Amino acid sequence: MIKPANAPERQHFNAARLRSYTWNELKLQAIALDEGKGDPELANGLLADLFTIERYWAFPGLDRMRQLQELVHTEQWHTHLLAVEQVLRNLVSGSFRNDPVQTDGILKGPEEPNEDPERSQQNYFEVLFVDEIDDQEEAALKQRLRKCRDNSDPVTYDVVVVRTVQDALIALLFNHNIQACVVRYGLPFPSTHAKGILRPYLRAFDGLDLSGMSKSDLGPKLGEIMREFRPEVDRYYVTDTPITGLHDSTLKNFRRIFYRTEDLQEMHLTILRGIRERYETPFFTALKEYSKKPMGVFHAMPISRGNSVFKSRWIKDFGEFYGRNLFLAETSATTGGLDSLLQPTGPLKKAQELASNAFGSQLTFFATNGTSSSNKIVVQALVEPGDVVLIDRDCHKSHHYGMVLSGAYPVYLHSYPLPKYSMYGAVPLAHIREKLITLRNGGRLERAKMVLLTNSTFDGVVYNVERVMEQVLALKPDMIFLWDEAWFAFARFSSVMRQRTAMYVAAKLHRKYKTEAYKKEYDTHIASLKKGEEPRMPDPSKVRIRVYATQSTHKTLSSMRQGSMIHIWDEDFKRKSEAAFHEAYMTHTSTSANYQILGSLDIGRRQVQFEGYELVEKAIELGMMLRRTIREHPVLRKWFDIITIGELIPKEHRESGIDGYYSKEKGWQDIEKAWAEDEFALDPTKINLFTGRTGIDGDTFKNTYLMDKYSIQVNKTSRNSVLFMTNIGTTRGSVAYLTKVLLEIAEDLEIRNAGMEHAEKKVHLNTIRSLVETVPPLPDFSRFHSSFLAVPGVPGGDLRAAYFLSYQEERCAHFKLQTCLDMLLTGHELVSASFVIPYPPGFPVLVPGQVINREIIDFLLAIDVKEIHGYRPDLGLRVFTDAALGRQKTGTAMGGMRAPASVGNGSTSITKKKKKA
Ligand SMILES: Cc1ncc(COP(=O)(O)O)c(C=O)c1O
Repeated sequence: MIKPANAPERQHFNAARLRSYTWNELKLQAIALDEGKGDPELANGLLADLFTIERYWAFPGLDRMRQLQELVHTEQWHTHLLAVEQVLRNLVSGSFRNDPVQTDGILKGPEEPNEDPERSQQNYFEVLFVDEIDDQEEAALKQRLRKCRDNSDPVTYDVVVVRTVQDALIALLFNHNIQACVVRYGLPFPSTHAKGILRPYLRAFDGLDLSGMSKSDLGPKLGEIMREFRPEVDRYYVTDTPITGLHDSTLKNFRRIFYRTEDLQEMHLTILRGIRERYETPFFTALKEYSKKPMGVFHAMPISRGNSVFKSRWIKDFGEFYGRNLFLAETSATTGGLDSLLQPTGPLKKAQELASNAFGSQLTFFATNGTSSSNKIVVQALVEPGDVVLIDRDCHKSHHYGMVLSGAYPVYLHSYPLPKYSMYGAVPLAHIREKLITLRNGGRLERAKMVLLTNSTFDGVVYNVERVMEQVLALKPDMIFLWDEAWFAFARFSSVMRQRTAMYVAAKLHRKYKTEAYKKEYDTHIASLKKGEEPRMPDPSKVRIRVYATQSTHKTLSSMRQGSMIHIWDEDFKRKSEAAFHEAYMTHTSTSANYQILGSLDIGRRQVQFEGYELVEKAIELGMMLRRTIREHPVLRKWFDIITIGELIPKEHRESGIDGYYSKEKGWQDIEKAWAEDEFALDPTKINLFTGRTGIDGDTFKNTYLMDKYSIQVNKTSRNSVLFMTNIGTTRGSVAYLTKVLLEIAEDLEIRNAGMEHAEKKVHLNTIRSLVETVPPLPDFSRFHSSFLAVPGVPGGDLRAAYFLSYQEERCAHFKLQTCLDMLLTGHELVSASFVIPYPPGFPVLVPGQVINREIIDFLLAIDVKEIHGYRPDLGLRVFTDAALGRQKTGTAMGGMRAPASVGNGSTSITKKKKKA
């Protein structure tokens, strides 16, 4: 076990921050010592800490650390200061990457440049060797590997050597530069460094106890752990065991097996080949090559090669703004080295295969019209008219339209509401199971084809994907899952978040259900069930893993707008769905796919395979920093608040009991624990700022304050909050800027409030009360009207029938909200003919065919948002007439529907329509 009981608090969010903090402290001490004011004992203590940390990094290396210690020992304060400054400069600028050969060499003077212009063209990475060798052998290994290197290689690397499995795990956890790992057989487990300063940063391995394993099993076990923990790192195994004596899992978990007798040159070349394969971007490279070729264009694309742009006298600025390459790469060619998105056989096919490998799917498809189209493709491919889909009602609108297109009957699931913030959380598992049981009792479970959920939600609530799939499959073993991961593509590259992604869990469950151990566990589980109790584990003889994930690559990774991917892990894909998938893909994919977007998907994949681990960790860290700063700053705290985990996820869904990522008293909380155990976890890169106390609603705060005044873009707001996101492009500078802006706004608010007169203050307090206290309750999905029920008495509605019925204008009428309310009070039944989607919060409060109830009208009357899609304030709500609903009422040309005389009809169009009719 790496973490002994009672591990001390974590003062820094992660080991990277601990490292930079300790170096900075050392620099301050070095300055003080140079000025005759410092404390050598403190410097020694810091150097001892750094000696422990730096053994997991190639630069500055332990030789340099020893030299720094020696300088303190011999009281050469000025040289010590220069040397510390030099290391820090190299670390911060990353320039050590340009000269890896000197990493364990002698400290250079500050006047010696560290840059080698030739080397700086090479991409740098580190290779981890896990081998029980002594210091001399380590030096010899490094020396021999150095000799293999060639300056003409496009990449270069340095070596980190550790001697135990536990040290290897620490190195992989801390050091994002590691891209390949060579494991020798016969390794010990425990590290002497997994205590003291490092102890609080090793929570990722809580519960991992390998101390009882034999040395000969630990090498292969390390390969298995790495596959889960840092899947992008290439794994190599060095052994003496003949190939026939190796386990299948060892062969699977390592890219290649080496024998001790094989030479280092071969290993070096293999390591480089592994890197080259990941570096490859077949489509992007083909596009670049294509754009260099001289070309005559006799095709319908005048801007291709910039022809119509650069010769123009009137639109030259268009060309100047984008640059020539954009136009050179603008083509519709599917030959000449390029490929067709509709039927890829060349570089695009290869690019999709590489993406599949990176994201852990069996198959990956690129899409160039956003996840909006990816969602429709998947739904159309997998469900037929009359199938039932369990779907969260507050999902993206593309899913609702997917229901219309496919003719599936949606069974709307309720997310738990967060009325205080006008937001929804996510759908509790108990509710999903309840619906499945109701469907089963109504004889409809067989038609229930798909569960469709949003992970993570816009506000960052993340499902326990494994638990959901496991417990749904226990009731319906062939259920298909569509996880809308529009906001979650980056999660694959965080070892903590990956556990809650669709592709990771699909592969994990597939492996698990095939094992004998699971079969036994299942039998015991079934035998333990009490009468009437429903199983929570799927039957291994029946279960099928059929999982789809759609990701807006452009939302969280480096892709052009609209770049999206569909990932598939479906063991029945070939047998059952391949043809239908291709039809659906054809339905929604343009015949003029945008090659720039496709190229960016290819290159975005390369980036995360090399830098994803580092960049995602940084995005998480910056998110955490922002949370902490706002919560702790005395001025910011007065006006704003961070909406915590505890406020976004009710207690009953948080088994870990963790209610915030940071508190002053407890330091950094155990994010790993919350993500491993809880029904819902909170994505730390989504930071909801509560603005209610400012008396400014979310939308005004976003537009007037953040955007107009400070050019800060945010994506989402609620009545009393704005959502900030950190991502792989966020810098410490941008977080500092946001903090500064919030401080300036806080100052303005102080001035504003101080200058308020009595009457003004009263109005202001009322506004605050309305934003903070008088929050309108969020309405649940009411029900489908009986004429649109799939089967009477069973959940599931015919959305498509209602949608197309509304095309007949004469079957629809409009009523203003107040009129609707009066009609409801006098016993009328109103049924929506449209989707009505207020933004924010951005989910439909009404869908076609849905019965309108009082809560919905109250909600629409209470919310003060400017944008309600599907609702025109001048006309009112669009509803079906009595005749449209088959209700037999006589007396009016509107099929019996009219507003009560006492209230008027509230809409001029009604009158007109009546006349017309
Ligand atoms: C949950 C969810 N799914 C799908 C989409 C659509 O994605 P895209 O903008 O890539 O079309 C969005 C857009 O915001 C979304 O929030």
